[in-house]
Amino acid sequence: MEKFYSVAIDGPAGAGKSSMARKVSQRLHFLYLDTGAIYRTVGYQMALLGVSPKDTDGICKYIDEVNLQIQFDETGRQHMLLSGMDVTEQIRSPQMSIMASAVAAQGCVRDYLLDMQRQFAQNHNVVMDGRDIGTVVLPHADVKIFLTASAEVRARRRCKELLEKGQPAEYAEVLADIERRDWADSHRQIAPLKKADDAIELDTSELDIDQSAAKIEQIIRERIDL
Ligand code: DC
Repeated sequence: MEKFYSVAIDGPAGAGKSSMARKVSQRLHFLYLDTGAIYRTVGYQMALLGVSPKDTDGICKYIDEVNLQIQFDETGRQHMLLSGMDVTEQIRSPQMSIMASAVAAQGCVRDYLLDMQRQFAQNHNVVMDGRDIGTVVLPHADVKIFLTASAEVRARRRCKELLEKGQPAEYAEVLADIERRDWADSHRQIAPLKKADDAIELDTSELDIDQSAAKIEQIIRERIDL
């Protein structure tokens, strides 16, 4: 049977996981799976159904009905489909960040999505980013990286990103949102955000995107013989 390699990149919101995972997967010719987008899509479905983020029973009642598909275009970009509708852009709003964090705290949602994520790693060389990839989803990943940066640096990066998208935001609000999500993601009971014992921690506070990506690629190439 062909051996597929997996790289797990976990860390808090805004640490640069997705930019890193995208860059590095292109360099290695691996598929990049953004697992946060899957939780966001479930959150979007719940919002469409009018389920409140606090309504645990409602979320678990509807989870089996979520008709979710993941597709990749020719550039390797991941598209999220909900009942056949492309919701890739819609799931990026601040409201969907809140919905995603709420649904991600539910065991029924995490169970529902676990197999889907593992199947990917069984059939492809992948870089997967999220919060629990190295700890729960792929405990035997070939390489595990825990990416961090200070909350202030992450907030500044997010503000810049939003400004570039034409959506300027208040630094203090963005920082408060990041701190709230850090707390929620690392204090939830099920699959909280935490570094796997065998993950390599990389703090990118002092590094730019290219320096961080180069460092990650080096860590991977030292561990996988490509
Ligand atoms: O990475 P992101 O901001 O798109 O993630 C959205 C939310 O989903 C975030 O609050 C944490 C949650 N999440 C998770 O619990 N486990 C994952 N593997 C990925 C994301």
